[in-house]
Amino acid sequence: MAPYTCAKFLQDPETQTPVFVRFSTVVGARGSADTAHDPRGFAVKFYTEEGNYDLVGNNLPVFFIRDALKFPDMVHSFKPAPDSNIPTSSSANSRFWDFISLTPESTHMIAWLFSDRGTPKSYRTMEGFGVNTYKWINAAGEARYVKYHWKPKLGVQSLDRHKATALAGTDPDYLTRDLWDTIANGGEAEYELKVQLMDIVDELKQDFDPLDATKTWPEDTFPLMSVGKIVLNRNPENYFAETEQAAFSPGAIVPGIEPSADKLLQGRVFSYADTQRHRLGPNYLQLAINSPHAPVENDQRDGAMQSGSFRGAVNYEPNTLAGGTPEAAPAGPTSMERIEGDVTRRKISLKNDFAQAGDRYRSLSTIDQDHLIDNIVDSLEKADKPMQERMVDHFIEADSELGARVAQGLHL
Ligand code: HEM
Repeated sequence: MAPYTCAKFLQDPETQTPVFVRFSTVVGARGSADTAHDPRGFAVKFYTEEGNYDLVGNNLPVFFIRDALKFPDMVHSFKPAPDSNIPTSSSANSRFWDFISLTPESTHMIAWLFSDRGTPKSYRTMEGFGVNTYKWINAAGEARYVKYHWKPKLGVQSLDRHKATALAGTDPDYLTRDLWDTIANGGEAEYELKVQLMDIVDELKQDFDPLDATKTWPEDTFPLMSVGKIVLNRNPENYFAETEQAAFSPGAIVPGIEPSADKLLQGRVFSYADTQRHRLGPNYLQLAINSPHAPVENDQRDGAMQSGSFRGAVNYEPNTLAGGTPEAAPAGPTSMERIEGDVTRRKISLKNDFAQAGDRYRSLSTIDQDHLIDNIVDSLEKADKPMQERMVDHFIEADSELGARVAQGLHL
């Protein structure tokens, strides 16, 4: 990828970089059924020679919202009700559909999530996506926008609602066991990493906002390019030390990779480390699973559970007392943009909330369309009627047939 990014781990096709990957659910807490209808996290930590790069993605290419400010409310509506503690997927569906039906930009995500993509058959048959738009910067300092895709070697395979529901009762750890047993028996899970690239000057020429996390980029205009592959061939040895204590963050980047001005990503960049200082403690980056394999000298010596072996009285730079060391790493190429305009704080409202949701519906096979509608109706029929009506309005905006079929299923 040398023409596009100076990230050292992406220069030479022969380079092998150790990774740690965590798959996760979003709504379900730890211990919940693996086959619940839910987006899956696909979080990858690359231990590169320049420090850690985290690609914290999901198994669906878009997200519910485009504005980071909405995230806490979104999560509250998805998580168990604050009074009864009853999870959304049981009987508290109204809280989920209440928020979603008042958030029209979520319609595209709903068209993905409520297809059988929401119940992967195996982590080995699940796609992954970076979702947000990032920037790659090459050695000459030229920047491009980039979107990431993981393609499973075994192809995409999902469970239908009935099989997923049955497994939640009979084998709730189905996906974890599948991956663990495959690797324990000498097998592998393999995914190819692909990217879409866009010249920065083309950002405003599209009929959608390429920095909007509720949108995909058309693959005929922005073709997928192969970058490399990840191979998962080693299970953790201590679940708590490694999997539980792993901390991934979209803010963990290496030279040659930057966040874009995507307004969801900008919130993510600081939010993950915030929660990790609380969840794991201020020195969570010193835990073996989180620590870069590249040496680190950052002059930070305090905080609970400090285990660094720093020496001497000089923990600042610039200095003369320690001969000017450690000194700042040489600045690699960074992107430069001229920004002009007004800065304010207001809700992001765009006109094109529904077009890609309709495209997605029409791209599905007949059987996948049937399953999408069946999955939506099965969940939405447990929500209050005004929410059902608002959702039908959104589905009609996306595709009149989709809206009509959901309305029919709900007897509206
Ligand atoms: C403004 C939007 C978002 C915010 C504020 C946010 C925040 C968070 C936070 C605080 C965590 C917990 C981190 C931890 O305890 O280690 C988390 C986990 C996660 N988020 Fe987000 N998130 C957002 C959007 C997204 C999007 C768009 C994706 C998909 C690309 C995503 C994927 C994930 C994944 C995969 C995890 C679990 C990672 C792991 O295994 O540790 N999030 N998110």
